[in-house]
Amino acid sequence: MIRVHVHGASGRLGQAIVRIATATGEYLVSKSGREADLSSLVDECDVAIDVSQPEGSVTIAACCAAHRKPLVIGTTGHSIDQLQNLRAGAAQTATLLAPNFSVGVNLLFWLTEKASVILGTEFDAEIVELHHRLKKDAPSGTAKRLGEIIAKTRALEYEEAARYGRGGLVGERTRNEIGLHAIRAGDIVGEHTVYFAGTGERIELTHRASSRDTFAKGALRAATWLIGKPAGWYDMMDALGLR
Ligand SMILES: NC(=O)c1ccc[n+]([C@@H]2O[C@H](COP(=O)([O-])OP(=O)(O)OC[C@H]3O[C@@H](n4cnc5c(N)ncnc54)[C@H](OP(=O)(O)O)[C@@H]3O)[C@@H](O)[C@H]2O)c1
Repeated sequence: MIRVHVHGASGRLGQAIVRIATATGEYLVSKSGREADLSSLVDECDVAIDVSQPEGSVTIAACCAAHRKPLVIGTTGHSIDQLQNLRAGAAQTATLLAPNFSVGVNLLFWLTEKASVILGTEFDAEIVELHHRLKKDAPSGTAKRLGEIIAKTRALEYEEAARYGRGGLVGERTRNEIGLHAIRAGDIVGEHTVYFAGTGERIELTHRASSRDTFAKGALRAATWLIGKPAGWYDMMDALGLR
């Protein structure tokens, strides 16, 4: 049995991970939330999964680093400082950051990179994401990752290139921008479309998640893969062998 600890266990994704892990019979699950004393819980696990909120990621990353326990982070919306904290923890223990655990989205990352390289800057890149009304951060971590992938292929700095929605007299679109647009409505689990629009034609790459279980299964797959890996910074591409 793999001893997995879930941080943020009473949230939407946390509950799905606990339910699926328990149902497989392959995992012994421990749980924590905002108020937990993490030290002993982390010490007694083989791997931890964080699906809480950004400040929760920082807390459990410090604990996992101190106890040299591998950590999978699915939480999104970290600030630059928080990401630096998480990366510091990865020097002590294997840490995998995945803004999206689904196999399909990770294939979308791969396809987006290929499309951006092939189409080049003649094609404007814009990203639209849709999520349920309760999601706290925007744009989604997945949309940001898509933007980072496109920026890298165009030798742009993501933070300089990103245009988060547009309003007012913003002027003509330049070649060096990547638009990101967030829709929040109803109970949408998660949808992402990357538009590459040229003159006279456009390509749209879309992924639609219809169940949170797909993320939960991916989180467990990543956690199982991460056990025994050396200290370092990993992502879902590593866990899925898509590198
Ligand atoms: N990687 C992926 O594939 C994927 C997929 C879906 C969602 N996500 C991300 O996963 C995170 C959780 O999503 P969700 O929909 O499950 O959110 P949620 O329903 O709001 O659940 C978050 C849980 O974390 C707890 N929490 C909040 N702050 C905490 C802290 N500082 N320390 C410990 N626990 C804390 C919350 O407790 P309270 O109820 O007490 O606030 C709640 O139980 C979000 O960042 C979301 O974007 C990732």
